[in-house]
Amino acid sequence: MADASVPSFKAADLVIELSSTPKNKQDEVTFGNNFTDHMLTVDWSASEGWQAPLIKPFGNLSLHPACSSLHYGIQLFEGLKAFRGDDNQLRLFRPMLNMSRMSNTAKRACLPAFDQSEFLECIRRLVEIDQDWVPHSDSGSLYIRPTFLGTEQSLGIKKPAHALLYVILCRVGSYFNSGAESLSLWADPKYTRAWKGGTGNYKMGGNYGCSLFAQYEAEDHGCQQVLWLYGEDHQITEAGTMNIFLHWINEDGEEELATPPLDGIILPGVTRQSILELTRKWGEFKVTERYLTMSQLCSALKQLRVKGVFGSGTACLICPIGHIVYQGENLHVPCQDKKSQLASRIAKELTDIKYGRTASDWTFLV
Ligand SMILES: Cc1ncc(COP(=O)(O)O)c(C=O)c1O
Repeated sequence: MADASVPSFKAADLVIELSSTPKNKQDEVTFGNNFTDHMLTVDWSASEGWQAPLIKPFGNLSLHPACSSLHYGIQLFEGLKAFRGDDNQLRLFRPMLNMSRMSNTAKRACLPAFDQSEFLECIRRLVEIDQDWVPHSDSGSLYIRPTFLGTEQSLGIKKPAHALLYVILCRVGSYFNSGAESLSLWADPKYTRAWKGGTGNYKMGGNYGCSLFAQYEAEDHGCQQVLWLYGEDHQITEAGTMNIFLHWINEDGEEELATPPLDGIILPGVTRQSILELTRKWGEFKVTERYLTMSQLCSALKQLRVKGVFGSGTACLICPIGHIVYQGENLHVPCQDKKSQLASRIAKELTDIKYGRTASDWTFLV
């Protein structure tokens, strides 16, 4: 339902210019390079408000060199996917959660509000136009990248009076190409991804740019991703660009699936929320949002109380973690045999919903 109280562009005003030179549709080799034929753009200015949304051939942007997103990182993005079901129907997974996270991030970035349902309808139209790009396979999907930039043409640091909202699409396969069954993480408290009062719980580009250096140091230590720690007690927060879950027998002897709480330093993942809701509905074990520290994990590993650790996110869905390098030790994290593994069970249930094998109100039809 459109929210009339928010001044916004309207999907009914969409202007559509189709490409006359559609590209060859290659299969995805590396993540994020295989862009479709069209993009959506919507301009905003403080003086004129939102302009009509436009779907046009995919192409470069023209930005003023003083543009505030380039200088001060007044920028944010989202990430969601379209899946082609066995019934050939295209589905998005809980896209209103992405719309809402994007609106929250826009507010924090001093970028203007928009009507989330109107924006989602524009995205739906874009995906519909480029629908032939959605792979006919259940390992592939179409990645949707909404982006929002401050386009203020001035070096002054201020709330932008000009902004550009746009969406690009690319065909994607599997996110991790290492072929490994589980991920290795490097945990060193010298780097921090997010801090209280900062922007770690918002999807701003700067959060990712400043994490790159640590990512390469993780690779120097033979690991694939960073396990981000926080505070004196080395709290476990996120794994690379994924939320993290620990499935264990907790200190009180109870079986528990635990993930850190949304206290401002954790990105509120759509997959995270879905895993919490799904497993709480099963009612088979305790499901909690609680602080977890490296010392708790190390003791649990020693006492053989850990059943599994996994990351979650739109890009990879569920990714089991097999090793953590911490304070000079390579900690082996057990993964139960494939069939009984909780990570596989959750991944299957979510995949069945995304590809329409299980009916669910978590899907949004294109
Ligand atoms: C830092 C971070 N954590 C977690 C996630 C997982 O979020 P989601 O499940 O919405 O993809 C992402 C990906 O968006 C991320 O960038």
